[in-house]
Amino acid sequence: MTIQAIVFDAYGTLFDVYSIRELGEKLFPGAGQALAELWRDKQIEYTHLRSMSSMYKPFWEITQDALIFSCKKLGLRLNLDAQSALMGQYARLQAFPENLSVLQELSTRGFKLAVLSNGNPQMLQSAVDAANMQGIFTHLLSVDLVKKFKTAPEAYQMAPDTFGLPAKNILFVSSNCWDACCASWFGYTTFWVNRHAAPLEELGVRPHGEGRSLVDVLEFVDSKRNT
Ligand code: LAC
Repeated sequence: MTIQAIVFDAYGTLFDVYSIRELGEKLFPGAGQALAELWRDKQIEYTHLRSMSSMYKPFWEITQDALIFSCKKLGLRLNLDAQSALMGQYARLQAFPENLSVLQELSTRGFKLAVLSNGNPQMLQSAVDAANMQGIFTHLLSVDLVKKFKTAPEAYQMAPDTFGLPAKNILFVSSNCWDACCASWFGYTTFWVNRHAAPLEELGVRPHGEGRSLVDVLEFVDSKRNT
């Protein structure tokens, strides 16, 4: 069997970062969707800027910085109550509905499962607990260990080191196309959960598999088993 372990990105892949639009809409009527989108884009942009400039700080703090900027940009008055409500929600984001049963099935099939995320350990543990995913993953790998965000090779290296497996024998699953593409560059076998039918990034590399939800990972690992 080629694939022996499966590693998941967290935000966007296991946990729905855009579900925050509902609380955003309650707090700022008419702006929930725009806030959810800009907040996410800024959060990721800040991770890249900070990694490139060797100015690491934990993802939780970056998430808060991105929220503050996004509200300013959209002309939304973010008072401390609204900020703590939105951040509190971020700590226990909704999981996509199919995820828990797919993860349980993969675990039953004998795959070792882990998370590899930009999220700092406390954030990841809180999200996993809120989604009732305790006991599913052998490791919650946080880039906090290497103080560099994805797509730095040091961040991707954590799973091969943890499992003692070559990256190609590990399936890396992400809903973020840039993450899946850069994980392919690193050497993983990769699967893109393309939830929103987005176009492929123009990076000259593509994920090895693609689907619309985590359910499609099951078929992909079956096809790999037969090759
Ligand atoms: C993560 C971000 C990329 O979980 O969504 O690492």
